[in-house]
Amino acid sequence: MAEGNLLVRGGNVLQADGSLRLVDLEIQAGLIKACHEISPSSWDGLVLEAHGLTVMPGVIDPQVHFRDPGLTHKEDLISASRACLRGGVTAFLEMPNTIPPTISAEALEAKLARAAAVSRVNYGFFFGACGDCSNLEALKDPGNACGIKMFMGSGKGCLDCGDIDGQERIFATGNALIAVHAEDQERLLQRRETLLKQYPNPAERPPDLHSQVHDPEAAMLATKRAVEFSNRYKRRLHVLHLTTGAEAEWLRHHKTALISTEVTPQHLLLDSNAYALIGSHAQMNPPLRTSADRELLWQALLDGVIDCIATDHAPHTLEEKAKPYPHSPSGMPGVETALPLMLTQVALGRCSIGQVSNWMSKKPAELYGIKGKGVLEPGWDADLVLVDMEHSRPVLREELVSRCGWSPFEGWELIGWPVATVVAGVVGYERGQFNEACRGNELQYDKII
Ligand code: DOR
Repeated sequence: MAEGNLLVRGGNVLQADGSLRLVDLEIQAGLIKACHEISPSSWDGLVLEAHGLTVMPGVIDPQVHFRDPGLTHKEDLISASRACLRGGVTAFLEMPNTIPPTISAEALEAKLARAAAVSRVNYGFFFGACGDCSNLEALKDPGNACGIKMFMGSGKGCLDCGDIDGQERIFATGNALIAVHAEDQERLLQRRETLLKQYPNPAERPPDLHSQVHDPEAAMLATKRAVEFSNRYKRRLHVLHLTTGAEAEWLRHHKTALISTEVTPQHLLLDSNAYALIGSHAQMNPPLRTSADRELLWQALLDGVIDCIATDHAPHTLEEKAKPYPHSPSGMPGVETALPLMLTQVALGRCSIGQVSNWMSKKPAELYGIKGKGVLEPGWDADLVLVDMEHSRPVLREELVSRCGWSPFEGWELIGWPVATVVAGVVGYERGQFNEACRGNELQYDKII
């Protein structure tokens, strides 16, 4: 039997227009061949039963940190891509802050080769910009990278692009998409010094001190500057993980056709009250904000000001997270929970399943020009997820497969858990069981500029 041949039988298949149709999906050689009303009697290949389940395009997560190479005690490409399968994520775009960082053609090739060998899902990688502009030449042709990542603030080592002149030189060089972590470095450093001095005794620090250090103004300053550079150099810009209502409202009026942005499920569903409940597990950059920010982010997402959803999956071990602030590292895992978190919002009536699929599959594919993915139509790649919209289950620590082994959403009762995840017509995950032979493919991009 040929690899990547499969019949997905009797599921409610999400159509490109957001409607659901009870059809069989015929998959041949990893591509969707046809949608049939009735199973063809001639089918003698593998069958995946989807009765009572909803069949959606696989999630494309456009911002993850998978720690491989160099930080594999937190996560590696095997544990991360298994977590992707469990979460219905069939493709990811991974960030350059590994050891070594992805700042050269060699480092990118090494990541692509490692992913080809072990990744259970489809993969793409960002090329990192160096703050001292030492790799400007390489940024002109970043190979088969999905884009260039610039840490305007919160960057470490050579990826620290806090210097404003350096930022401008990077925008002025080449034409690949630039994705920015938008926080102003100078303001972050000033606030950190002032606030840590103000609260010398760790026992007296307010629980949301991290959100005070990384304040809304630091984010706004950087977002405005990135937009200014995008306009000046006619450069494709993606503002990563938007967190403040003020930025969303400002972008509503200042976004151009060259600019896109995203939000994470945690910034939609958690706010700075979470520190009191889960401590440093709520600590990430840019940080959790207020409930008023959450509401404005939701509105901007529903209105299309925010284009898509990313998890910013950034695992750290429990031991690392247990260090006292400011030594506790920022970041939280997300690929295993993002889809059921958002589908639970569908069940609660906050949005439709078509919108969720648009934000998590179709739009990420469009924004990065990823070929063949994001919708379930004949001729497109057979990357899909079967979800159960009838039953709820809690997020349980013991079931998580990400190496870090925790989630900020533990105990949350969610609807829409993946029952099976299919990558290029191969069932990679089904009801808690993994197919360890499943492998993803390197993403290919239409050059959009
Ligand atoms: O909280 C974060 N953690 N934000 C980032 O941008 C980086 C990430 C990490 O790599 O840990």
